[in-house]
Amino acid sequence: MKKSDFIVIGSGIAGLNFALEASKYGKVTLLTKKDMMESNTNYAQGGIAAVLGAHDSYESHIEDTLKAGCYHNDVEAVKFLVEEGPKMIKKLLDLGTPFEEKNGVLKLTREGGHSCRRVAYSGDATGHAIEKTLVEKVRNHKNISVLEQTIATDLIVKGNKCHGVQYLEGKKIKEVYGKAVILATGGAGQLFKKTTNPDIATGDGMAMAYRAGAKLEDLEFVQFHPTALNKQGAPPFLISEAVRGEGGQLKNSKGETFMHDYHEMKELAPRDIVARAIAKEAQNGEVSLDISHEDPEIIKTRFPTIYNKLLEYGIDMTKQAIPVLPAAHYMCGGVKVNLKGETSIKNLYAFGEVSRTGVHGANRLASNSLLESIVFSNQVLEVIKSLEDKIEIVKTHKPKYVEFDAAETKKEIQAAMWNYAGLIRNEKGLKTAIKELNIIKKNLPEGVNQELIEAKNMVDTGMLVAKAALKRKRSLGCHFREDDKK
Ligand code: FAD
Ligand code: SIN
Repeated sequence: MKKSDFIVIGSGIAGLNFALEASKYGKVTLLTKKDMMESNTNYAQGGIAAVLGAHDSYESHIEDTLKAGCYHNDVEAVKFLVEEGPKMIKKLLDLGTPFEEKNGVLKLTREGGHSCRRVAYSGDATGHAIEKTLVEKVRNHKNISVLEQTIATDLIVKGNKCHGVQYLEGKKIKEVYGKAVILATGGAGQLFKKTTNPDIATGDGMAMAYRAGAKLEDLEFVQFHPTALNKQGAPPFLISEAVRGEGGQLKNSKGETFMHDYHEMKELAPRDIVARAIAKEAQNGEVSLDISHEDPEIIKTRFPTIYNKLLEYGIDMTKQAIPVLPAAHYMCGGVKVNLKGETSIKNLYAFGEVSRTGVHGANRLASNSLLESIVFSNQVLEVIKSLEDKIEIVKTHKPKYVEFDAAETKKEIQAAMWNYAGLIRNEKGLKTAIKELNIIKKNLPEGVNQELIEAKNMVDTGMLVAKAALKRKRSLGCHFREDDKK
């Protein structure tokens, strides 16, 4: 059995940033279920928002965040996010993140819901630039021991206190104990059939926290990104909101723009509004995103990842419109934490997408997620203040390894969530989702293997989402109930 001062689960921006900060004060063990780079962070495209421009202000970023979140946000958390923002961009720059600059001044792009250019970026692969920078610092750090290809299976909790983590190594459950356990496991886009998220996003942290008895909140607010690629045989690859920020227009099957009918900010309206507008227009035929009127060289330089990916599927975005539809993208809710990242369980902290800080309210403002992840995970000194000296070992049950192929089960969960708890919801559908998830859960065997753990976590997190969505009868932000009669 291992011991460490800090145990971090996850190697996205939140886990890596926390690990780096904490390594100044003690030994860190970082577990991550694939290789270190694999995370939602690594695929983030548009950028990271902060008050950086000469004509911007904290008040404006705060107001845009609250407005996108339908004022369901926690104002204190939003203020903290916004006021810490510029410092965190400087930190990332100092660590070596290659944000784009001109004559020493950061270039800024625009995205939905922002009233000005506020988003620092690195081409259309900002997340990769950040992830690579942080991974390089964490790898081979003398105070950080990294366990890759290692999935955390459950939290070790006794008397509302977290003591450590169980994880799967080969075919054995092992344990690591520590003074503080940090959930930085990211989101749960994989709950849905169509998602922009990579395979790792199976809601593990939310499910583990739930099983341990922690409080979770706002899980009904699942954000669907408006523009994922919609082409037979291709994955729903994200087409960044920055494409609209740089002049891309949404068009219906007749080739006409339509966003003016839905919102005064047109293509740059908050995400939930654009996503539902696209879904509505798609009832009459294909919806597409067109930036082909811009200079081809500018498109290729500004969006190289998207341009090259689309070419693989026979689409040249400099010459033609891109077929798009919404796909599950981001969890606004999660494990409830305060400004210090403390959960309702002692010694258990949550940072990044797994957490519910109150920043996003009912709908996240574009590019506020990377910011939230780094701002809140930087609170290491707050964590240290409440650490106890001793590491306590407790008696646990260790589940056995079983052979079971859970691939089909995962697909069943994704279908139930997509069909009945997706972008447009109603009571009957949500009850069906819960019923189907219950049946799936009953048929899952005892024991563990990587796929099975993920399937169990998807059922648990999916159930929490569906139940929260059923409970909230009125539409708000990205939770839309078509049976809300107003
Ligand atoms: P992640 O980066 O997802 O990291 C989670 C880590 O936990 C991973 O390493 C994972 O392997 C590990 N993990 C999970 N479960 C376990 C387990 N059981 N055991 C061990 N390890 C585990 N946000 C923005 O602000 N701007 C953007 O431009 C932007 N673009 C995006 C584009 C895409 C395609 C996607 C998918 C998201 C985008 N987002 C963007 C959202 C943003 O990327 C994420 O919300 C953010 O990166 C979350 O960081 P994180 O550290 O919390 O989690
Ligand atoms: C995007 O580039 O459109 C994603 C931005 C985000 O999720 O904040």
